[in-house]
Amino acid sequence: MSKERKLLELKDKIEKARLGGGKARIEKQHKRGKLTARERIDLLLDENSFEEMDPFKMHECSDFGMEKKKFLGDGVVTGYGSIDGRLVFVYAFDFTVLGGSLSKAVAEKIVKVQELSAKNGAPLIGINDSGGARVQEGVDALAGYTDIFRNNILYSGVVPQISAVVGPCAGGAVYSPALTDFIFMVKDISYMFLTGPRVVKSVTHEEVTKEELGGATTHATKSGVSHFTYDDEKSLFQGIRELLSYLPQNNTEEPQAVEMGDSVNRVDEDLNYIIPDDPNRAYDMKKVINSILDNGEFMEVQPLYAKNMIVGFGRLNGKSVGIVANQPKSLAGVIDVKASNKAARFVRFCDCFNIPLVTFEDVPGFMPGTDQEFQGIIKHGSKLLYAYAEATVPKITIITRKGYGGAFCVMNSRNLRGDLSLAWPSAEIAVMGPKGASSIIFRHEIEEAENPKEKLQEKIKEYRDKFANPYVAASKGIIDEVIEPKATRYKLIKSLEMLNNKRDDLPPKKHGNIPL
Ligand code: HXC
Repeated sequence: MSKERKLLELKDKIEKARLGGGKARIEKQHKRGKLTARERIDLLLDENSFEEMDPFKMHECSDFGMEKKKFLGDGVVTGYGSIDGRLVFVYAFDFTVLGGSLSKAVAEKIVKVQELSAKNGAPLIGINDSGGARVQEGVDALAGYTDIFRNNILYSGVVPQISAVVGPCAGGAVYSPALTDFIFMVKDISYMFLTGPRVVKSVTHEEVTKEELGGATTHATKSGVSHFTYDDEKSLFQGIRELLSYLPQNNTEEPQAVEMGDSVNRVDEDLNYIIPDDPNRAYDMKKVINSILDNGEFMEVQPLYAKNMIVGFGRLNGKSVGIVANQPKSLAGVIDVKASNKAARFVRFCDCFNIPLVTFEDVPGFMPGTDQEFQGIIKHGSKLLYAYAEATVPKITIITRKGYGGAFCVMNSRNLRGDLSLAWPSAEIAVMGPKGASSIIFRHEIEEAENPKEKLQEKIKEYRDKFANPYVAASKGIIDEVIEPKATRYKLIKSLEMLNNKRDDLPPKKHGNIPL
């Protein structure tokens, strides 16, 4: 064959590979309201930065007529490129090829980019749209999934791993995203479930739609499986780019500093007045967070799940910080099972990737009651204790109002290896809330009083006057400083500068045993 013909042959193959399952299948994909794997990669990466790998790899199955169903590249597009000029690795299931089902060849392509991402210390983004294990291949597909899971686990905490779910994601396909750090979903086209509605009906007799069982809203609000929800794919890929801007490339690096143009000295007078006079009235902790962060930019994680606990990313003087905060506007900011899990996982992520933690605290306690106890609030609440205590990144707490009981200990208290605890003058720090405390220590006095209700109120006031302030804790060094609320941004930036070179270790061990 002449050189020209060889070049033509290569061109022809490249073009064929680019068409995946072919024009008709691409059209069908568009009609479903979905983009193709390559269109998705283009939206995700910097323009023209994608370099494809293994475009000619094919499956080797010959059962069930599969020798006639071969496509260049098989059911996944893999490679590398850049986001904001920084290297990332990517794989995108190609639904136009046999429903993006996972063959041995597909798994091998994914494993290759997983290993490259870890060796080269760059984030990995998986774009999922797949009918699950390729049924014709049987156990080879199972082994392939397991290889992918194993790598997700080995590289957890080494490089950020992000999953976009932009189509069906069923059976074995769900566990790889679940093992990654963040899951992004789109309304109406993303589904994640172990078994679809038909199997559910035959086993449990429940009638449920795909959307109800595993749609984006279900996982954003009910299960907490997903972290970010979008109305369309374009916004989703923009969201992944935004998230990566807060993260380092790998666990040995720090996040890039960004010039935000927001003064260190900026003060917000409103913060001095944001806490209501009535301690039982709510306010919006997000207003506090937005006011303090650079340019008010806050990328909230899981905004629709366990709203009583806020977590997300922002910047202070251009440097990434992870925010954890109680939300008095939702369930008075109590900590329940969902809130504990949400915050614990976020704290551990930030610690993996050298992102300092800033905690805003206004917490009346853990949620009491049989529902929470039977769900194991003891076990789940202890995850948050564990996560904070284990984290070695700089950790600062601002107590805006309530810091009661075990919930005070949990929210990055000093004794839990917190670096600094700052309190607003409105802070109330005590072993429990004034009502509960008064009914225990003054029980007899109250019971014997002529008017027990009046007596209780009197004792609550007495207790509140004595303990509902930050000064008792400050006099014991449990609080480092009481600050004017409007100075919080400045104080946080100065404190983070002071902690910039913090070095801390854990006792030598194989690994701890977090109460899962
Ligand atoms: C082989 C598959 C496939 C699969 C889809 N296709 N899933 N081929 N193996 N798992 C093929 C279809 O046969 C079809 O080919 C083409 O992909 C497009 O699929 P459609 O059904 O036309 O698309 P749609 O109507 O959008 O439905 C998508 C779907 C459905 C909901 C994903 O295809 C489906 O239910 N697939 C099977 C899901 C499943 O049960 N997977 C196995 C899970 S077992 P043609 O040529 O007809 O157009 C598993 C265990 C692993 O994953 C455990 C690991 C630990």
